[in-house]
Amino acid sequence: MVGQLKPHIFFHSNIDSPDEWRAALATEFEDFTFSVGREIASPESVDVALIWTLPDDGLERFVNLRAILSLGAGIDQLDLGRLPKHVPIARLVDASLTRTMVEYAKTAVYRYHRRFHVFERQSRNCQWTFIPPTVSAATSIGVLGLGEIGREIALALQHEGFAVHGWSRTPKKLEGVTTHTGRDGLTRMVGSSNIVLNVLPLTEETRHMLCRDLFAQFKDGACLINMGRGAHLVESDLLDAIASGKIDAATLDVAAVEPLPRSHPFWNHPGILITPHVAGTSVPMAAVVTIAANIRRAMAGECLLHQVDSDRAHRV
Ligand SMILES: NC(=O)c1ccc[n+]([C@@H]2O[C@H](COP(=O)([O-])OP(=O)(O)OC[C@H]3O[C@@H](n4cnc5c(N)ncnc54)[C@H](OP(=O)(O)O)[C@@H]3O)[C@@H](O)[C@H]2O)c1
Repeated sequence: MVGQLKPHIFFHSNIDSPDEWRAALATEFEDFTFSVGREIASPESVDVALIWTLPDDGLERFVNLRAILSLGAGIDQLDLGRLPKHVPIARLVDASLTRTMVEYAKTAVYRYHRRFHVFERQSRNCQWTFIPPTVSAATSIGVLGLGEIGREIALALQHEGFAVHGWSRTPKKLEGVTTHTGRDGLTRMVGSSNIVLNVLPLTEETRHMLCRDLFAQFKDGACLINMGRGAHLVESDLLDAIASGKIDAATLDVAAVEPLPRSHPFWNHPGILITPHVAGTSVPMAAVVTIAANIRRAMAGECLLHQVDSDRAHRV
């Protein structure tokens, strides 16, 4: 098979560097073709699409495509209805991405635990009010999603001494973490958490689950950290929950519309910190190991690592 010796990789992303990915792939493949953009001499020879989002003209012209490899841990950004149904798709699971997610989670948690968000408000009002710090064990954190990333976040926070709870679809055992499943488990967890941190994938079941009904079950004055996807959150419900004092503050790395529109009420909101979808990023030189393994599998006609199932909603 010609493709086995020389994979033809189509690359498309508005956030990842094609030059960095080309250089990273060169460490794994002696001979390969790397195509970016619309002008491709022989689209029928493309074997693998390495993409963050779907290009405007889709992937239809790549008639011999063997695999679609997401450049992200999620696949919801890929406009799933427009993907060729017969081509397997895999999400990216990568230690460098997980590490940056853990760093972000710790930073956001400590900002609330050490009341920096309160001191930020105070400092804008020239206000010097002493609030004594508390021990980490007194701060309870509920992590929504205990997968590749959520599990590492929960364990890292537990290691810092926080009281960590986690919620997943199926039961999990994680040392030092109290785990929950089902609606009752969710209610129990958010009702006892000072900080709720979302790192769920976006599926039909999880879309808009951070909403008025769930916020009503939160501990009074809890903080929210959303590192999942913008569509997990009903944005107007968050504004109401903060206005009522039910939720004290929120850190949002993701938004329903990205970039967040200039006129959006989240900007300049004293209770909301926006970060521009930076929580997790992969380092191509590290992530290429997984990507290359999947390119080899695709060329050999094998099942992909971290392949997603046919309804595109869950991991195999
Ligand atoms: N902001 C960023 O920069 C950034 C970067 C990377 C990833 N992300 C987000 O993080 C998400 C998670 O990534 P991952 O690699 O950890 O995914 P994963 O390995 O697939 O884990 C997903 C977790 O969510 C749980 N889950 C899924 N549906 C559920 C439901 N309906 N009810 C309860 N639990 C449910 C799963 O439970 P089971 O294990 O029981 O199935 C699993 O524990 C991604 O999909 C993406 O949205 C964001």
